[in-house]
Amino acid sequence: MRLDVFFTPSEVKPSDTSGRLVAIIDVLRASTTVAVALANGAKTVVPLPTADEVMVRSREFEKSAVLTAGERKMLPIPGFDIGNSPKLFTAATVEGKTILLTTSNGTRALLGVQGARDIVIASYVNLTAVLALMKMAVNSNTDITIICAAEEGIFALEDAACAGRFVRVMPRTSSVVVNDAASASVLIDRKYGDNIAKIFQDSSHGKELKAAGFGDDLATAAKVDSYSVVPIYQDRQITKIGPDRER
Ligand code: MLT
Repeated sequence: MRLDVFFTPSEVKPSDTSGRLVAIIDVLRASTTVAVALANGAKTVVPLPTADEVMVRSREFEKSAVLTAGERKMLPIPGFDIGNSPKLFTAATVEGKTILLTTSNGTRALLGVQGARDIVIASYVNLTAVLALMKMAVNSNTDITIICAAEEGIFALEDAACAGRFVRVMPRTSSVVVNDAASASVLIDRKYGDNIAKIFQDSSHGKELKAAGFGDDLATAAKVDSYSVVPIYQDRQITKIGPDRER
């Protein structure tokens, strides 16, 4: 079986995702935000490509049942209920609600995936929970593709490092074949070890978020395994796998 990493979504061909378990990683911040929202009881997160589509779709819901969420250039979108800071997605704010989410890179990377068997949203905060799903894929000989959302099409250190953590801790049998990006991602993960905060200090997007006043979000995103949630994208929405849902 194959375990492939792609550092940017533009490198991914349909044959790299077809029939596979695909993990989308946008550590700063979309993947982290989705995990926090679902762990705190959001009913579902609907990823949408544009702010206009979010506004149009929101009209289909009772006002109390929906939240418009997302960012452009890291900042909340004018007229939206909430930005893309994970700390805003508290139980009091999101419980039972449908969240219509648009972000610059994470939601776009997700919407570009074609023909996958399953699509999971991965980050440091839900690492072990998502890893369990990956292990099941290995056991059933299902190929795995990890796609880093990157930043405006350019390599993002934090996504590559997180991909490397998944690759490094995945059980390896002789039948698992990895691509060069997967091998490189492991080197990045090994370099930083458990010092996730240092990854964010060194990464362009980490620096930008800190400068824009979102330092708290970096602290949230660095907390490995703080949420045991597996967000799955299916039928155009992201929901969490429940205890009753075997895959
Ligand atoms: C994205 O999807 O590009 C992000 O999550 C950006 C951010 O909110 O910092």
